Amino acid sequence: MLLISVGCREQTPSTYSVREDVRKLPPVYRKQIAEALREYFGTAATPRLRVPDFESQGEAEVPPLVDAIEPALLAHGRDVFNRRCAGCHGETGDGRGPAAPYLYPKPRDYRLGLFKFTSTHYGMKPRRTDLIRVIRFGAKGTSMPSFRWLADEDLDAVVSYVMMLAHRGELEYRLAREAGELVDPEAAADDQELIEPEYIPELLDEIAQSWKEAETSAVIPLTVEPPFDEESIAKGQQIFQNKACKGCHQVDAAGGLLAYEQLFQSASPDVLPAPIRSRWNILSRNLMSPTLMARLQKKLGEDVLPDNVMDNWGNFAYAANLTSGMLHGGRRPIDIYRRLYTGVTGTPMPSFAQHELFTEDPDNFWHVVHFVIATTHGRPVAVPEEPTDGDEADEQ
Ligand code: HEC
Ligand code: HEC
Repeated sequence: MLLISVGCREQTPSTYSVREDVRKLPPVYRKQIAEALREYFGTAATPRLRVPDFESQGEAEVPPLVDAIEPALLAHGRDVFNRRCAGCHGETGDGRGPAAPYLYPKPRDYRLGLFKFTSTHYGMKPRRTDLIRVIRFGAKGTSMPSFRWLADEDLDAVVSYVMMLAHRGELEYRLAREAGELVDPEAAADDQELIEPEYIPELLDEIAQSWKEAETSAVIPLTVEPPFDEESIAKGQQIFQNKACKGCHQVDAAGGLLAYEQLFQSASPDVLPAPIRSRWNILSRNLMSPTLMARLQKKLGEDVLPDNVMDNWGNFAYAANLTSGMLHGGRRPIDIYRRLYTGVTGTPMPSFAQHELFTEDPDNFWHVVHFVIATTHGRPVAVPEEPTDGDEADEQ
């Protein structure tokens, strides 16, 4: 008896939590969104990724659905995910697992469909190999661990599951926005204008296509890597310190909170109490404790800050510390090249693909890459003397 009940409990399927903004919608929309999600993605007990096949729709009223990923693979992926990843990423992939409040950077919320360490252009989806890489090697310098030891078939399954959660999350997120615009507060709860039924499969198709498109959109360097030598590093440093990068990463490449000056200026003493004020320079250069970050965020509110200081997930953005020896997005030359060329999706780190410093000589990408490599390997960054016309007193 006992054994049976224990077995049953283990198999009790978890359910996917519902987005906060969906929970606030009138019941008709909640129902419509829940039904759509169930139709395309099944349940946590039987996860699916079913996408509309418009090509074989013919005369039918709605396009038939096809499994984009083998259901057995998704079921396996769910088991791996719930065991190894959900503690941080949450069972729905919302980035709010039990450990999340204590972590910074925050575990990725997959539901915006945005990923940082991609080989594709800014704003595009990652390729499958990008996700595999970040899971295999982790994001160094963050709490995202490396799963080197994970069996290939577990990795393959969990990547598929992450992709499913991202499709599902993005559809939910975009339907929530759509419904939010349709809600008529004057009308009765059951007399709301529903989301156009044809719109939903079209939206899912658009999301699915964006993943497909990414697969063939890897950024290939424009030029062959020149020799890694002093001359190249020096050129890279000059570009870095000239203008393009130092505004965010600071002239010494140690980065820091993008908002720090604004925060310091707009923060009244109760937001930044005296002991913090006096340590502000140091704090804003290093990752602050998540509790302090949360407190600042709550007190200041996003609207006080210029929007380029937050990332798309609503967290403060830190320009990477390139002297720390830890590059979150990988330390191979090609990884760094892609960070510069495509930027870091979802964050203020811009793409430099169209920047004149690089279009005038595409080798400049490599020179800056070489400077970044030298710096992450501990080579001290010489800070040029500032022209002495300013009176910038040290805040301390
Ligand atoms: C201890 C917490 C933790 C665990 C466990 C964890 N992650 Fe992460 N993960 C993170 C954090 C933190 C980030 C964000 C890093 C950043 O933004 O630089 C992240 C980011 C990611 C990303 C996004 C990468 C990108 O390019 O944006 C993926 C995909 C991912 N994790 C998958 C997984 C999978 C799959 C597992 C389980 C096999 C897992 N993670 C386990 C903390 C964790
Ligand atoms: C508008 C501000 C801004 C500018 C300008 C900027 N960056 Fe960044 N950069 C960031 C932020 C923010 C991140 C962190 C992204 C993240 O959350 O992972 C970043 C990340 C990076 C990374 C990835 C580090 C890692 O951990 O993998 C590299 C490399 C980098 N920047 C180099 C540069 C270089 C070189 C330039 C100039 C050509 C530059 N950045 C210009 C804001 C900026």
